[in-house]
Amino acid sequence: MSGQATAPTASGSIAKIDIAASAERYRAQNEFLIVERFLEPTVVAAMVSEANAVRGRINRNYVPGQKKGGSVSSFVLAEAAPVTTGLYESPELIALLGKIVGELLLVCPETDPHRFALYFYTEKGDHIGYHYDTSFYKGKRYTVLLGLIERSSSRLVCQLYKDDPSRETEELSIATTPGTLVVFNGDKLWHCVTPLGENEERLVLTFEYVTDQRMGLAHRLVSDVKDAVAYFGWRSLFRRRKR
Ligand SMILES: [Fe+2]
Repeated sequence: MSGQATAPTASGSIAKIDIAASAERYRAQNEFLIVERFLEPTVVAAMVSEANAVRGRINRNYVPGQKKGGSVSSFVLAEAAPVTTGLYESPELIALLGKIVGELLLVCPETDPHRFALYFYTEKGDHIGYHYDTSFYKGKRYTVLLGLIERSSSRLVCQLYKDDPSRETEELSIATTPGTLVVFNGDKLWHCVTPLGENEERLVLTFEYVTDQRMGLAHRLVSDVKDAVAYFGWRSLFRRRKR
């Protein structure tokens, strides 16, 4: 016996999920799925503890009329958050998500600070306006959200079927409670996060997977500027260049 504790993983959660039913629901909801209490409390606790340890490295950002909040990039998490990093790169989780969305999924390249990241909503008014998680990669881009802390009136609001003229738009207002899994095709789901109230807190982990790891040069430039301004600061961009 090594005496070392085994790192918490999502294996138990993955074993319990009904893949066929989840894939069916995902398709029926125009490539959107929510699974409450997906992650076990021990895994959530380990990731919250890793998130607490990087609070000093949060990059606060403010884009008037669109976004206010704090982010920690994968560059920081890869060094400081082994459970979180392990979950993002977990072949079991990637295979599960691939079966749900019906694609062979790949992690984003290590040079992408957004491949996995933490979003901290900690100050009154923190929010993000309506947007698609547009793919800058050559293939499709899927967003996975995992709720870690939910002590707020802030909600993830999703408008399903907005891109489908034959269907009425359906609005969902979601509290991303600890352990909640949300999966969607970034180009299809119109969504926002409503403003945080006073003395509230919301913490969400985001994972990004793609079907093609290549990105064109023009898209790379747009993606770089967006990440620097709206998420991780210019330093993350220069850091990427050195990697
Ligand atoms: Fe988004």
